[in-house]
Amino acid sequence: MAPALPPNLATVSLLSFLALVSCAASRDILQLGSSLAVEAFQSDILRSPDGTFSCGFYSVYDKAFTFSIWYSEAANKTIVWSANRDRPVHSRRSVLTLRKGGNMVLTDYDDTIVWEAGDYLRNVQHAQLLDTGNLVIKNTSGDIVWQSFDSPTDTILPSQGITAATKLVPTTQSRSPGNYIFRFNDISVLSLIYDVPDVSDIYWPNPDNSVYDNNRSRYNSTRLGSLDNNGILASSDFADGILLKASDSAAPGTKRRLTLDPDGNLRMYSLDDLDGVWSVSMVAISQPCTIHGLCGQNGICHYSPKPTCSCPPGYVMTNLGNWTEGCMATFNLSCGAHEPVQFVKLPHTDFWGSDQKRLLGISLEACMDICIRDCTCKGFQYQQGTGSCYPKSLLFNGMSCATPRVRAIYLKLPARFNVSDTPIPQSNVLDPAPPTLQCEQMSRGVRYPFPDVQETSDGQSKWFYFYSFIVAISIIEVSFIAFAWFFVFKRELGPSEMWAAEEGYKVMTSHFRRYSYKELVKATREFRVELGRGRSGAVYKGVLEDERPVAVKKLKNISRGKEEFQAELSIIGRINHMNLARIWGFCSEGSHRLLVCEYVENGSLANILFRDQNTFVLDWKQRFNIALGVAKGLAYLHHECLEWVIHCDVKPENILLDTDFEPKITDFGLAKLLNRAGSSQNMLQVRGTVGYIAPEWVSGLPITAKVDVYSYGIVLLEILSGARVSELAVGSDVHSMLRQLVSVLADKLEGHEESWVCEFVDQELSGQFNYLQARTVIKLAISCLQEDRNKRPTMESVVQTLLPFDEASD
Ligand SMILES: *[C@@H]1O[C@H](CO)[C@@H](O)[C@H](O)[C@H]1NC(C)=O
Ligand SMILES: *[C@@H]1O[C@H](CO)[C@@H](O)[C@H](O)[C@H]1NC(C)=O
Ligand SMILES: *[C@@H]1O[C@H](CO)[C@@H](O)[C@H](O)[C@H]1NC(C)=O
Ligand SMILES: *[C@@H]1O[C@H](CO)[C@@H](O)[C@H](O)[C@H]1NC(C)=O
Ligand SMILES: *[C@@H]1O[C@H](CO)[C@@H](O)[C@H](O)[C@H]1NC(C)=O
Ligand SMILES: *[C@@H]1O[C@H](CO)[C@@H](O)[C@H](O)[C@H]1NC(C)=O
Ligand SMILES: *[C@@H]1O[C@H](CO)[C@@H](O)[C@H](O)[C@H]1NC(C)=O
Repeated sequence: MAPALPPNLATVSLLSFLALVSCAASRDILQLGSSLAVEAFQSDILRSPDGTFSCGFYSVYDKAFTFSIWYSEAANKTIVWSANRDRPVHSRRSVLTLRKGGNMVLTDYDDTIVWEAGDYLRNVQHAQLLDTGNLVIKNTSGDIVWQSFDSPTDTILPSQGITAATKLVPTTQSRSPGNYIFRFNDISVLSLIYDVPDVSDIYWPNPDNSVYDNNRSRYNSTRLGSLDNNGILASSDFADGILLKASDSAAPGTKRRLTLDPDGNLRMYSLDDLDGVWSVSMVAISQPCTIHGLCGQNGICHYSPKPTCSCPPGYVMTNLGNWTEGCMATFNLSCGAHEPVQFVKLPHTDFWGSDQKRLLGISLEACMDICIRDCTCKGFQYQQGTGSCYPKSLLFNGMSCATPRVRAIYLKLPARFNVSDTPIPQSNVLDPAPPTLQCEQMSRGVRYPFPDVQETSDGQSKWFYFYSFIVAISIIEVSFIAFAWFFVFKRELGPSEMWAAEEGYKVMTSHFRRYSYKELVKATREFRVELGRGRSGAVYKGVLEDERPVAVKKLKNISRGKEEFQAELSIIGRINHMNLARIWGFCSEGSHRLLVCEYVENGSLANILFRDQNTFVLDWKQRFNIALGVAKGLAYLHHECLEWVIHCDVKPENILLDTDFEPKITDFGLAKLLNRAGSSQNMLQVRGTVGYIAPEWVSGLPITAKVDVYSYGIVLLEILSGARVSELAVGSDVHSMLRQLVSVLADKLEGHEESWVCEFVDQELSGQFNYLQARTVIKLAISCLQEDRNKRPTMESVVQTLLPFDEASD
């Protein structure tokens, strides 16, 4: 391809290719605590060491992604596994994280967990994509503790075993799972099963034969199968070593996959290395009409010469363009009225299964009589010669194709119908050949077999529906302000009226919405479990209807009017950072003002740091990580937010810790909610906590973001020492004590003696800390605690100072 390009263009494409390879090829491992983000789906991928497989976010359609593994070399990405096939995630903010606890978790834009590997994994070291296409999680002794091979979707890869638990289900265009299953059945026979609410039956191996006639064994309960690199499919039930073999099994090194396709057929594919196109090298079912359910209830599959679905006389297609629901009767045969009936003969046709009875050696008339007298009988199958009669209660799996045993269906219709003009579905490839002729064989290399059944114009509308739903999410997101405006200002809807209007948007806006007071009373079970109490109000634990645990904060002393309150919230509701506790919504009804916030599992830093009986001690790594995380959260508030936000009350009580002890700052933005004019005098009354406030609060200077930097400095000292700094000020005022402490620490830093660091750091750590990190944190705390606020660093530069010392980022 490259020589055909003009030289400069080739160089450019080569360069970008090299850039792509060099940054992508180096990475097959996802370290503990790191993640892949959907925004970087083109570069943020894992590649197996030999480059055969890639793993990352895959765009299923505009703005919707799955986390998948695919063959890198196929011309079109061929997905072989997905973590969330049936539930795509949004194109923004979705991430896959290997959490420090060991669980691998996929979260959607609103932090909903869409998929997880399992939270029982212990001592996890990293996740890795292997050359076999297996994504594994290994523990510190190198053993695999989880693997994607254990939960296949629609594909088996060479070296991936087929076990008793293996179950393949096709991936359909509409992303809803298909109606077919590939697995070991109850008698340990590897089978293809048609499975819908009304019927469930096996169509491979051929149900008309006995197990042994199909060359299977039913008494080997091992239930073990395998696909090897040569394209040989083996299974414990294949009797006498009869194996299924790819047509190109002699070609070594061919890349293969075994996939259960949406048409219910199981195919083995081989990849052509040159053009990246897959071709079929083995197919389980050579006569597609024997796949059950293809034409739905009452529908008949026949060859003309391609496999085609049709309705029998007296029936019409239920859902034009989609054969899933088959055909429906155009008549009603009332049971009690004894309406005269007729039987229409459909030669070479059978509806498989749903037999009411099995009668042998009776005449056609006797069989008709039985069906006439039973209202539920829709027709019967009759074989001349043996005189076997099978009345049917349902007409499923219809097919018209000659089989060695000549069969005919006699369909029960009202006598008033004149069907002489109605065509009867027949396989025209048979005419005028004898009935023993094989129906059309599956041609090799067919990529989308069954065009007549699969590609329907109606299929598009469903796609469009989903597509527009996804687009709607992003539109709502963008126009969020306008949306809030509508509900908040334009006209006040009554709560019930509003819920009705909002219902349709509930899903889309679930990351920030308005709640009714009643809803929150229910969520908190009448404010039963109190999590904490501060000057701004009490916090209660609750569980929303979607089972999300939340912290509900009942605000008091709100001087802001309803509209101002809501306007402020519409801004802080959009703030989203991993070190800031999310605000999911609010309630503003009558005098009630409540915030619905993310529930953070491990409570506040103050609870853990200053607990009397120290049952749990934060280790040094956790402490450093908390210092860094809090700095990141504050830097985001100060510098990156849409609107500049000063916290004004940074203290260990407002730093929450999640299950991984990752810090999340809470109560940000409350300064704005709680006072009207925003003047510093007012702020002093409602915000700030003695022991953490900067000196300029007292001297009445305007408040800037540097007040948070000062408070952060004190938090750093407390994280280091494990003690409440304000408690050191016995008798004197806090600020003069701090001035003293800072100058002592500054002197010590200048000196060459080092043992004082050990004395300053929390004794509970018994000396287990990183000296370099501790020194850096002390130095940082000193600069944050400068009297002159202009000498204090910004939170941004605090983060920059700490980052190089963070071990986790190596
Ligand atoms: C890749 O997908 C596109 C769009 O679906 C299709 O037109 C094209 O033929 C496919 N290419 C190959 C090699 O399968
Ligand atoms: C790793 O997993 C293996 C197998 O489950 C187990 O035997 C081993 O003890 C684990 N190692 C660690 C360090 O947990
Ligand atoms: C079973 O195996 C025999 C011998 O290989 C073969 O002739 C026969 O067609 C096979 N039967 C089926 C149903 O595949
Ligand atoms: C069952 O199948 C397995 C795998 O093919 C084979 O090793 C084993 O001998 C079989 N057992 C019996 C009882 O045939
Ligand atoms: C048959 O009867 C049912 C209910 O009695 C009715 O809903 C349906 O429309 C009728 N179908 C036809 C084709 O008349
Ligand atoms: C049915 O219709 C065909 C043509 O429309 C007609 O020739 C035939 O006589 C009709 N049969 C009955 C029983 O009415
Ligand atoms: C056909 O209809 C069924 C259910 O009625 C639906 O699940 C399926 O997605 C539809 N197929 C297409 C291609 O629209």
